[in-house]
Amino acid sequence: MNVLEKKALKFVQKTQAYEIEPHPQSDRLYHINISTNALSNFLEAVKQDDISVQHLEYTPYARHIIASYLLNQVGEEFAELLRGILHDRQSGGFTIGLEDVTENTDEYVIFSTAISHMLGAPNHDSMSGKYYARFTVKDTDSSDSYLRQAYRLFTLHTDGTFVDEPTDWLIMMKMVEQNARGGESRLLHLDDWNDIDKYVKHPLANHKFTYKAPKSKNIDQEIERLTFFNHNNKPGICFIDQFVYPDTIEQAKYLRDLSTSLENDEHVIELELPVGNLVAINNIFWLHGRAAFEKDPNLYRELLRQRGRFNQ
Ligand SMILES: [Fe+2]
Repeated sequence: MNVLEKKALKFVQKTQAYEIEPHPQSDRLYHINISTNALSNFLEAVKQDDISVQHLEYTPYARHIIASYLLNQVGEEFAELLRGILHDRQSGGFTIGLEDVTENTDEYVIFSTAISHMLGAPNHDSMSGKYYARFTVKDTDSSDSYLRQAYRLFTLHTDGTFVDEPTDWLIMMKMVEQNARGGESRLLHLDDWNDIDKYVKHPLANHKFTYKAPKSKNIDQEIERLTFFNHNNKPGICFIDQFVYPDTIEQAKYLRDLSTSLENDEHVIELELPVGNLVAINNIFWLHGRAAFEKDPNLYRELLRQRGRFNQ
């Protein structure tokens, strides 16, 4: 496939309230600008209705109400466009942000909630006990997974591997960033992976591996997962190196080689995501991870995540 054939163009358009463009860093992604006017009016409408982050946490319907406030500003078709992009195999992802109209992180939560409820419904995040989770990366860390470890590569994976519910999409929003060099989100579209055939056609592609979560995720169950599965007649992937338990040396080698191959693929994107911006990707055919940060005693970064399903 040449570059033009795979360039994400289908959804490119411009209205008074928003513009959908090809992403400057990737042929697969779109970047969406909402006008500052529409964004300010949206935040004002939420304020007028007295909807706080706590209210969103306690009252699920309020999350849909604020999505409607954003749609009032940009037009009803906007939600369909976002879902269309995430479903589109050729793309499956976009970035979008608050265009510097606010630096209030509560309003970042509000904005990401409006976007997530246009895509579908977020799953309960057991790590935070909420429909979203905020987590920090600092100079030091004593947790039990690579999620918060700054100076290590966080290898490419999909989310929701160890939970018993669909995880169709993922949103990651940059909340705070101080003294951070490196640490970019690494992304790989499954169809760009040079070695895909080798691993999809391997006998272990159809093996059900056991996945178990570490303690911090607050999930006790074990679950069996195929690494590759059929998704609209193309492969979908379910993989994370940290939580999969092979039974044999042969299985371990398959998983190790798969992870190494993903990591070294020339098509991995290292995404620049400014504070107040989020990236949304389809979790079935995009893998994500994080580059290592450069050492800094004052490093502080905070991300928000939401994972969820499409409405049927
Ligand atoms: Fe993840």
